[in-house]
Amino acid sequence: MQLTSEQKRILDGAEGPLLQECMASLIKCGEALGAADFVPVTSVHTSILNLPYLANCFGPRGRELTEADVRALRERLSKQRVPVRTTTNPGMMDLEQWRLTGSDDAARQTVQEALDTARQCGILTTFSCIPYLTDNIPALGEHCAWAETSAVMYANSFLGARTNRESYETSIYSALLGITPNYGMHLPENRRGTDLVDVRIPVRTTREWGMMGYYAGGVLGLGIPVFRNLTRPSMEDAKQFCSAINVPAGMSMVHIAGVTPEAPTEEAAFGGNTPRRVCVYDKAARRSVEGHLNRDPHGKVDMVYFGCPHATLYELKELARLLEGRHAAPDTKLWVMTTGSIKAAADRLGYGDVIRAAGGELISDGCLNIFYNYGTATRPKIDRIATNSVKQAFSVQRAFGSKTVFAEPEICVEIAVEGGY
Ligand code: F3S
Repeated sequence: MQLTSEQKRILDGAEGPLLQECMASLIKCGEALGAADFVPVTSVHTSILNLPYLANCFGPRGRELTEADVRALRERLSKQRVPVRTTTNPGMMDLEQWRLTGSDDAARQTVQEALDTARQCGILTTFSCIPYLTDNIPALGEHCAWAETSAVMYANSFLGARTNRESYETSIYSALLGITPNYGMHLPENRRGTDLVDVRIPVRTTREWGMMGYYAGGVLGLGIPVFRNLTRPSMEDAKQFCSAINVPAGMSMVHIAGVTPEAPTEEAAFGGNTPRRVCVYDKAARRSVEGHLNRDPHGKVDMVYFGCPHATLYELKELARLLEGRHAAPDTKLWVMTTGSIKAAADRLGYGDVIRAAGGELISDGCLNIFYNYGTATRPKIDRIATNSVKQAFSVQRAFGSKTVFAEPEICVEIAVEGGY
């Protein structure tokens, strides 16, 4: 790769071994992916779960890390500052309510240590999968290095920012160096549409946007689809869509003519490309999605779950409206996930109190997936779960073997009150 004199200096160790290691690792990734050089980034979204997890991004390689290695890394990191705006994905617990989700004190301490280290480096430990709506909002054309599939999709498709799907390792290196390999989504020629999705039924609700995304992702898998016949989504629709499309797929961007900043028209979205494939989304397609996401739905429900991706303030307002004066059945948990900043706002506005008065819990900084797939927390009984989220319905089926009800929020609230479906 072509390096600037400053990048060569860092590679030669002039800024210390930590940055030298970051630079060498990013060069290896860039060379493997065909990048000619680096591009400066202004925004990073990374993932920091606990201190050992963070330490795994760095050497020594080829052997298990010892406690001394982890302490040494913490010492080295404490001397670094990230030069760009950097936020973090959901973590392993809500540090204010860690017992509620089954964590223990030992796990809490290691999360706290990682958080302290990250904050010393200047990282905003937001623990949110919707940075694009709250604390890290890049503008059209901004180069970023983000590690969160749905956020990457949102940034490229709805903001016109430019980011590849980074790993937690590469995003940490980019956070410390302020650069990323210049390939993929950073280059205009790679952002043109490749496939067409012909939407032949109305897509009206947030959940329906998720279903459509899930179907198209499953049919196409890879590429940059251009969606036809859609009206402008709300930000909640777009958020649900961006997470759902990558449940069965590995995409970085879509175009919706008149919505995607780089696609005023369908013609501009394709930029001269001829669609390789056409995916039709119709009634039969929607029925097949309902079939996938509802698994043995009838019977007692152990948990009703909202907030995947993390709920917006508007979604919490709507949920509070639905829950006002109601109460969840005694054996049915009602969990709502959001970010720390939105939770604080919801509490100020009284929505948190309404959710808690209804027997629910408003939890921030994490989600079921991360609490119980990455952490050591004890998972509550979730034989059957009701949710309005595509990704959550899919994840709990696969990860926990749960039965699922995939339904609109109004139905989910009724299920919470009844305790079953
Ligand atoms: Fe976010 Fe967790 Fe869902 S990271 S998209 S709330 S699985």
